[in-house]
Amino acid sequence: MRPGVGVDEELHTRRLLLRRFRASDGPALHDYLSRPEAVRFEPYPVQGADDCALLASQRAADPDFWAVCLAGGPLVGNVWLHRDEPASWLTWELGYVFHPGHWGNGYAFEAASALLTTCFGAWGAHRVHAECDPRNTPSWRLLERLGFRREGHLRANASFATAPDGAPEWQDTYLYALLAGEWAAPAERDARAGIDEPAPDKP
Ligand SMILES: CC(C)(COP(=O)(O)OP(=O)(O)OC[C@H]1O[C@@H](n2cnc3c(N)ncnc32)[C@H](O)[C@@H]1OP(=O)(O)O)[C@@H](O)C(=O)NCCC(=O)NCCS
Repeated sequence: MRPGVGVDEELHTRRLLLRRFRASDGPALHDYLSRPEAVRFEPYPVQGADDCALLASQRAADPDFWAVCLAGGPLVGNVWLHRDEPASWLTWELGYVFHPGHWGNGYAFEAASALLTTCFGAWGAHRVHAECDPRNTPSWRLLERLGFRREGHLRANASFATAPDGAPEWQDTYLYALLAGEWAAPAERDARAGIDEPAPDKP
């Protein structure tokens, strides 16, 4: 259990509700994980309806996964925040996948901001890190808007696909991280993201 946050806790932002997954979220998950553009940089292929029904049940039992819903509306994506071992290092890893039909609205930024505020605040995080493929520009731009620093560029370190002849297709990885002392005030973060409206996070 994470300090100070129960498994049934919900986070509300200006436009979003972050809640636990439910077993009934399979169709909503399928709506985006069945799209090639949503999983292009994920270590798994497009997911079928049965896969998503199983994933929804698994995520309902996994407090690392947060379902992101429009306030009073549909599930539009997920954020994953996982505590590394050893726990005494106070370090978490961040991940996210959003429905392509909802990209470009700042929802991932708003959801991740709320969770990071909780992580650096209530959970006492010292460091949060994230990885992404350098070709995944929307992902590293999101990380930089959140204030993450690029700490490394690993060359041909991973392979999630093989060529027709069976040879691994190597890909690079960007490493990003953010320290507690670097987590900016909401106004500064919003300015970096080009938002004029009030700060969305209030956990
Ligand atoms: C990575 C991903 C979540 C980014 O989604 P996104 O919607 O581009 O990210 P944000 O929430 O930061 O939104 C930013 C965009 O919304 C715009 N925006 C509109 N209103 C906004 C607001 N109120 N706040 C912030 N941004 C806003 C920004 O200007 C920006 O637009 P731009 O892309 O034209 O520059 C998405 O591309 C995705 O799900 N990809 C597939 C999964 C994946 O690759 N995950 C990462 C694996 S490492």
